[in-house]
Amino acid sequence: MKLLKKISLGVLVVFVAMQFFSPTKNTSAGKHTEAFIKQTNPSPELKTSFETSCYDCHSNNTEYPWYNNIAPISYLLAGHVKDGKEHLNFSEWENYSLDKKDRLLTEIEEQVVNGKMPLSQYTLFHKNTELTTSEVNKLVEWVRQTRIIYQLGKQPK
Ligand code: HEC
Repeated sequence: MKLLKKISLGVLVVFVAMQFFSPTKNTSAGKHTEAFIKQTNPSPELKTSFETSCYDCHSNNTEYPWYNNIAPISYLLAGHVKDGKEHLNFSEWENYSLDKKDRLLTEIEEQVVNGKMPLSQYTLFHKNTELTTSEVNKLVEWVRQTRIIYQLGKQPK
């Protein structure tokens, strides 16, 4: 019993100490995805889907839930954001090469159609972020059209 008390106290001390540290937040003011929207021209509904379901991990601005103030959750979320942005960052879209954009569009379709994105850990805690069938269909159509536009741009004059 004495040992258990000591361990609990130790865990508590570590937990409290952790609260004094937090990872740098991923925030960005202004229209950080404007170039992406301009270039790929999603419908207003699809634009909203990206905002509610993808930007938290794939852009330079995350809207944090209250529990992000609790360590170690804050570190877990920061890890997702860092990892997500490394793979795909809608705020950096304009800087990607045509080939990379084309590959990412294919990946976006694949991930969404297979229900892998948004991550299930995310949809579990964020209501209504899972894409509906109709939203998925709109995304697939948008990928098709956007790839054609990019392919045309790629062809030599
Ligand atoms: C909770 C954070 C989170 C959300 C929300 C999220 N993603 Fe991701 N995404 C990640 C992480 C982390 C990875 C890295 C690979 C992995 O873990 O599967 C990733 C990988 C990807 C990839 C793979 C890119 C590559 O280069 O292979 C694509 C495409 C993608 N996400 C698209 C989306 C789309 C589209 C949405 C919205 C419908 C979305 N993601 C929502 C975290 C997220």
